Amino acid sequence: MPRPIYDVYPDKDALSHHAVELFIHHCQQAVAHQAMFRVALSGGSTPALLYDLLAHPEYKDRIVWEKVELYFGDERGVPPDDADSNFRMVKEHLLEPLGETQVTIFPMMCGLDPDEDARHYEETLRAGFGLDPHGVPRFDLILLGMGADGHTASLFPHKASLHVTDRLVTPAEPGLKPFVTRLTLTYPVLNNAAHVLFLVAGEDKAETVKRVFDGEPLPEELPSQAVKPTDGELMWLLDQSAASSL
Ligand code: 6PG
Repeated sequence: MPRPIYDVYPDKDALSHHAVELFIHHCQQAVAHQAMFRVALSGGSTPALLYDLLAHPEYKDRIVWEKVELYFGDERGVPPDDADSNFRMVKEHLLEPLGETQVTIFPMMCGLDPDEDARHYEETLRAGFGLDPHGVPRFDLILLGMGADGHTASLFPHKASLHVTDRLVTPAEPGLKPFVTRLTLTYPVLNNAAHVLFLVAGEDKAETVKRVFDGEPLPEELPSQAVKPTDGELMWLLDQSAASSL
């Protein structure tokens, strides 16, 4: 299996500076076609610096924010002000620093009824993308991270959520901390995107990156391996530590 397209950067700072340029490029492409630029944001810690940069005047002013719609790739079953909330991370690193700049964002709330919350977010996606009840959204860009266990979004190894193909969003059993129920976009949505961009940094990911890139196809064990847009571009941005086993 050929390796996905990837670039290696000296560190997370360099990786994030390239990622922000890619974000702007894809945004300008969408806007040039008078379209909205719809993005699914990743959670975790790696993309925080990218979000900081997006709110920095040097980059912020190159984005047509009124044409941007921000969604989430996954969310943890915690309150939006919880330290483990992906929404809180995005709020701290992007929304608050953007200040007066109006941004359209659709938080993925995961509360006491994850199945109902998943259905609610599916409706949010259908409305946002103007889909019929059987339509699958085609994101212009989906940002993803990868855990050391090979998970992406909240698609964890050997969990039932890997096999949900008749829904856009599903409740997901966690495989790593925080051990709370999650919501996640499903593979049909991830693999329908125009562009998928993995941002992966850190020595702890190196062995898993090697397995995902060069190992046997083991999508149950390495869910990140199964992210292969059917009619879109997949790219991995790695720092040197995460690429050190390649
Ligand atoms: C989440 C993320 C998850 C994340 C990876 C990597 O909600 O946890 O969506 O898929 O991208 O766990 O996390 P780090 O960037 O913190 O290593």
